Amino acid sequence: MSFTVAIDGPAAAGKGTISRAVAAHFGFAHLDTGLLYRAVGARMLDGLDPVEAAQTLDPASLERDDLRSPAVSQAASKVAPIPEVRAALLDFQRAFAARAGGAVLDGRDIGTVICPDAPVKLFVTASDTVRAERRYRELAEKGVETTFDEVLAEMQERDRRDSERAAAPLKPAKDAVVLDTSQMSIDEAVAAAVAAIEERR
Ligand code: C5P
Repeated sequence: MSFTVAIDGPAAAGKGTISRAVAAHFGFAHLDTGLLYRAVGARMLDGLDPVEAAQTLDPASLERDDLRSPAVSQAASKVAPIPEVRAALLDFQRAFAARAGGAVLDGRDIGTVICPDAPVKLFVTASDTVRAERRYRELAEKGVETTFDEVLAEMQERDRRDSERAAAPLKPAKDAVVLDTSQMSIDEAVAAAVAAIEERR
């Protein structure tokens, strides 16, 4: 039987870490849907038309080393408002969600558009400062040269674009459990997510 956990939220709120941990905990498959938009964004930066890039994307080959760069983050949020791009990525995400054995999908519109009937919806968030600090540390560890202010500004720009777009904007589903991780350690955030899932299982 399928069981879908939808995890949405703004950039660097901890969605990825929480999703991977709960997927491992329950033995569910995990899809980071941001990677789909990042792959389309990267192909746009390579000169491809974003709609064509989305329609010809092979979701099985999403690993490109540069998909996490700040340039690709921005490109992803620029292709994400295009309805034809979102439509091209829909079936793959729904099929993934319907897998036997359970699935965790994280993104911006999983609880609102992709899986509106998911039995568990989490909206993971944290203050702007905390999120920018986390992302800044991540990038610094990878050796990316940047500053905290730059990371904060880019993140806020991306969140604004994601929240204000007409197609599938970033917002909590009405029945989502909001998890503010500003004051939580990773272990605490994962424990809270596991508890929310246990309650609805
Ligand atoms: O989650 P991540 O930061 O990797 O997502 C990159 C971008 O992809 C987001 O800023 C957003 O514009 C887009 N996205 C989306 N819908 C999703 C996942 C990501 O629009 N479900």
